[in-house]
Amino acid sequence: MTNFTYSAAALDRLQNSDSEIFDALMHEEVRQSEGVELIPSENYCFPEVYALLGSVFNNKYSEGYPGRRYYGGQENTDTIENLARDRAKAVFRAEHANVQPLSGCAMNEAVYFALLQPGDVILGMDLSHGGHLSHGHPVTNMAKIFKYTRYKTEIPSGAIDLEKVRQVALETKPKLIICGHSSYPREYDYAAFKKIADEVGALIMADVSHLGGLIAGGALKNPLDYGFDVMTTTTHKSLRGPRGGMILCKKQHAAAIDKSVFPGMQGGPHMHQIAAIATTLKLVQTDAYKAYAKQVLANAQAFAQALLAGGAHLVTGGTENHLIVINTATGFGITGDIAERALDKAGITLNKNVIPDDPNPPMKPSGIRFGTPAATARGMGEAEMKLLASIMLQVLRAPADDALLSKLREEVRALCKRFPVPGLECTKTKCCAAA
Ligand SMILES: Cc1ncc(COP(=O)(O)O)c(C=O)c1O
Repeated sequence: MTNFTYSAAALDRLQNSDSEIFDALMHEEVRQSEGVELIPSENYCFPEVYALLGSVFNNKYSEGYPGRRYYGGQENTDTIENLARDRAKAVFRAEHANVQPLSGCAMNEAVYFALLQPGDVILGMDLSHGGHLSHGHPVTNMAKIFKYTRYKTEIPSGAIDLEKVRQVALETKPKLIICGHSSYPREYDYAAFKKIADEVGALIMADVSHLGGLIAGGALKNPLDYGFDVMTTTTHKSLRGPRGGMILCKKQHAAAIDKSVFPGMQGGPHMHQIAAIATTLKLVQTDAYKAYAKQVLANAQAFAQALLAGGAHLVTGGTENHLIVINTATGFGITGDIAERALDKAGITLNKNVIPDDPNPPMKPSGIRFGTPAATARGMGEAEMKLLASIMLQVLRAPADDALLSKLREEVRALCKRFPVPGLECTKTKCCAAA
């Protein structure tokens, strides 16, 4: 039985009442323990987060905001939401924080509806160059309401030509410009983007969903220090919190943002999630977490350098954050889906990914994307990243060699046993106890 749950007795009951779900849970614990997680948007949350997600805060309806709710019995929920908001403001140097969005897409949609009118133009990064679906991809519902225009990065350097961004902005007259991405391994020039926004009279927002933890830990620049109107971040990626979203903004946008989240988009906030966000925001202020954030970047550097030395073609030629994107089509003659499956067989989980202006479709793209937050949360350092890079290179060079993949799977399993997943000590499955 795991040791992080709210009540071990509840897990015992689950085992008796629903063995199918219980078994899937046990198998997932083994999968997460015995494999290396390199999906850059995933992480191992703090053990305290599990406790709060499984707590009685799940039972409470708290529509509204602290001090102004539509239901009674809010003395404890007001405490946690006030703490979450105050800590978010302190950690990110923000004038206002809304911690109620249920997830990342919802948080971005809430911002659009707070600050824009239907038909207004939003300028964001092209999806294949690293941007995110929720920044206006035509397949999303938001594209039916707002008009989207895009800026791209330069190939192969990955640099953003700011004069080109300025020209698109002058031509398309956006009301909102977005800095933010889910697969761009480079830093933004936030000051330059703010200048362009000011020149064209647009609001400026950063979606730092991937980078939130690295900004909180002081390892990367904070867009709010450059006068941004709004910054959004998910809470479950580098921050190591529960799934969720946060909106941080200038005071002048506070009322519109709050109204847009509730009652504009959502009903009752998930108070167990908000309690877990609050405690996450305390934990990210520790020296241990600041060291973690720096190590995530050092690990990404070590990984990238080892891959480059082994002949891999890295999109943008390297990384300045936690992300690495490999063009597997040019480097190894295989599409990303083949690479993803072969690496999975070797115990390394990551995802296939499009590369800038990819000629291939999203389900058979030209590359793979991965990152270091989860492996670093297990305590792995640069030496382990070099070992993983060498295993990855062997897989990418021989993705159909099942005997090799099985041998490498054992190496990955042995590595994982040396670095247990935080908070996941299984006595039922013995996945970590055997270490
Ligand atoms: C930059 C960015 N914004 C928004 C999201 C959406 O988050 P969610 O999956 O919680 O809706 C993601 C998720 O990967 C992301 O990377």
